Amino acid sequence: MKKKLAVLLAGTMVMASLVGCGGGDAAPAETSAPAAETPAEEEEAPAPEAEEEAPEADDAAETEAPAASGDTISVGFAQVGHESDWRAANTQNYQDAFSEANGYELSFVDADNDNAVQLEAVRNFIQQEMDYICIAPIETAGWDTVLQEAQDAGIPVLIVDRSVDADPSLYTTQIGCDMVAEGEMAGNWLGEYLDGAEAKILVIEGSVGASATLGRTEGFNNIAAQHSEWEILDSQSGDFTQAGGQEVMESFIKSYSDFNVVVCQNDNEAYGAMDAMDAAGITYGVDGDVIIISFDATHDGLQYTLDGKINCNVECNPLQAEFAAEVIQKLQAGEAVDAQTVVTDQAFVAPGITSQYAVTMTQEVLDGRAY
Ligand code: AHR
Repeated sequence: MKKKLAVLLAGTMVMASLVGCGGGDAAPAETSAPAAETPAEEEEAPAPEAEEEAPEADDAAETEAPAASGDTISVGFAQVGHESDWRAANTQNYQDAFSEANGYELSFVDADNDNAVQLEAVRNFIQQEMDYICIAPIETAGWDTVLQEAQDAGIPVLIVDRSVDADPSLYTTQIGCDMVAEGEMAGNWLGEYLDGAEAKILVIEGSVGASATLGRTEGFNNIAAQHSEWEILDSQSGDFTQAGGQEVMESFIKSYSDFNVVVCQNDNEAYGAMDAMDAAGITYGVDGDVIIISFDATHDGLQYTLDGKINCNVECNPLQAEFAAEVIQKLQAGEAVDAQTVVTDQAFVAPGITSQYAVTMTQEVLDGRAY
């Protein structure tokens, strides 16, 4: 049954779509709504190929998708881990969207940031003949073989949150934020804020080899390359954790006495960096000596932004499961799906800052932040 369904799905046309978080491009402060909690509508009409390859009457029972036959749809989700508040929100979002009440049986594996565990989880899902597999890849590299195995088994794979370096024909779709655009947003905001002033920058990167790290680094560096008055002093991985952020910041403080910008590639790292600077008597935020840029814009991260401790916080929306569910429902119906769904983000800045690239934080924006 699965193999025939997969043949049908492979014949459907795939395209790319951009889905918003309520604001699209960073809007002027007052006009912006908090991050998107409702999927934007996708524009694609079903591709003709999907209809042409619909099963013939005789074949109907064999090709019938699980939901159509009244079965629950089994979904295996190989999650990165539980390294951050963002991740916790993302996991909860999947557990809510793929609930029994919604007609799913979700098998969830927390890989604890271990590639081997994540690969094994995917292989187990294949062996268990899941209807669909979602993978939030820890690293971009090393996926071709297992994706080929899933394809050979006729199981559609959704790459979610982060991206992989594999041949796109090996998976059905990729859903996630544009990490390069997030890095560029941070860089553009900094350029506007500093307005030609010098920057001595320290970067606390995310996990090594993760597309979130690679993309944010690339995006920020793209903008830094346009500013000869900026110097990136150092860049080390804090592994997207608070402990990692604190450890890296403590070592930066020992090595560098003169810096005025710290870029943390997620909120948890920023909390750790703030702890390290507090302990060293270094002031930061809108009234301090050091500008802090963070990513994620989780509730607590935005609280710090509202409090003026984080100057700029670039969103990465963790509420992506609805897009995955939408893809699965389309596949169930034999419809075409987009090759990629880009979840759009916006940036937020502390009160007192106005920016063409970011929304100025208010209590109202914070109150609307569900994660
Ligand atoms: O892939 C998304 C990133 O991973 C988030 O920025 C971070 O918090 C998470 O751990």
